[in-house]
Amino acid sequence: MNDPAIATNETTLSTAPLFKSFDFGGTTLKNRIAMAPMTRGKSPNKIPTDAVAEYYRKRAEGGVGLIITEGVNPGHPASSGYPDVPWIDGAEAMAGWKKVIDGVHKAGSAIIPQIWHVGSIRQTGMEPDASVPGYGPSPIVHPYYEGKEAEAPHVMTQCDIDETIAAFASAAKQSRDVGFDGIELHGAHSYLIDQFFWAVTNQRSDKYGGDLVQRTTFAVELVQACRAAVGPEFPIVFRYSQWKQGDYKHKMAETPQELEAFLGKLCDAGVDVFHASTRRFDDAEFEGSTLNLAGWSRKLTGKPAISVGSVGLDSDFLRSMVGKSSGTAGIDALLRRLERDEFDLVAVGRALLSDAEWGNKVQEGREKEIVPFTPAAMAEL
Ligand SMILES: Cc1cc2nc3c(=O)[nH]c(=O)nc-3n(C[C@H](O)[C@H](O)[C@H](O)COP(=O)(O)O)c2cc1C
Repeated sequence: MNDPAIATNETTLSTAPLFKSFDFGGTTLKNRIAMAPMTRGKSPNKIPTDAVAEYYRKRAEGGVGLIITEGVNPGHPASSGYPDVPWIDGAEAMAGWKKVIDGVHKAGSAIIPQIWHVGSIRQTGMEPDASVPGYGPSPIVHPYYEGKEAEAPHVMTQCDIDETIAAFASAAKQSRDVGFDGIELHGAHSYLIDQFFWAVTNQRSDKYGGDLVQRTTFAVELVQACRAAVGPEFPIVFRYSQWKQGDYKHKMAETPQELEAFLGKLCDAGVDVFHASTRRFDDAEFEGSTLNLAGWSRKLTGKPAISVGSVGLDSDFLRSMVGKSSGTAGIDALLRRLERDEFDLVAVGRALLSDAEWGNKVQEGREKEIVPFTPAAMAEL
């Protein structure tokens, strides 16, 4: 199909901007669709199974250009907070990942793992070592647990910080060696890296605490260590969010100037691409501009940016749904933003759980065949 188009109320829009190729650090992506990282909890003993490999292969065949895997834990016992999450460490887990990667590459797509440490979300008693408590920057019970009984984390010493950074760097190197096309660091949603960013969870008085720029120090050292481990060419994507589990309305950077100072530190440390996690891609981030968080990331840093949030989730997603009670916008709003070059890639999450062929169906004008998302899709691979 040369120039597939969708009809909206007012006009006909080409879907071509979604299907242009993209240079991802030397790897050519077949289109602008990324699969958003989604925890699946289907990897017993930390090893991705053949069913996990098939799950990712199907999405690659179904039209995703870049797969960002579910969050995967680096080889540190405190990094884990949910059952059956795969690791990115050790021969067995990496052999499982090799099968995943081979299937995705065969389908002509690229794949990167999302490396994830849950920090103080973890509680004593959780796998893989029940005696290991959650780790955090400060002894603050995670606000996510408000109203529930939960323990404050072990406050990370310099030695813990060094060990954790080394675990991330080792995971990054193992990712490169096994054949991934880059890595994503999970710096969003108030997990460990974001717990250092957030003033509520980081009340340290050493070099890791202070104002927002000082609170990037842990992430900066972590990115530098990963960069040193993988070399200058291997793409490092950094996912971040303003919102936090425990405070969905939070704005860590209240102005573009604050955001620029924050992102600038991460750029200097070696980040290549920013993945700005928002719940709705069509939300303006700051007053006075319609740019979303990914748009601002790109404008302020000059680096490629990935947008995300409720893409393809309308029951009638061909029409603009701005202003409807669901608060989601239609694909025409997405295409307009892509046409304006506000960001480079768009990550699709839940819509890909219910329909692995979402991308192909959009490209081929078969939107009517798309299987609508229902929460039941979250339970299955
Ligand atoms: C089942 C599920 C698991 C998720 N797990 C992760 C995760 O491991 N890491 C992460 O950064 N975000 C995770 N997210 C958030 C998604 O990456 C994405 O940002 C969010 O679902 C919004 O995109 P969507 O509206 O297209 O689904 C998860 C979302 C869902 C629905």
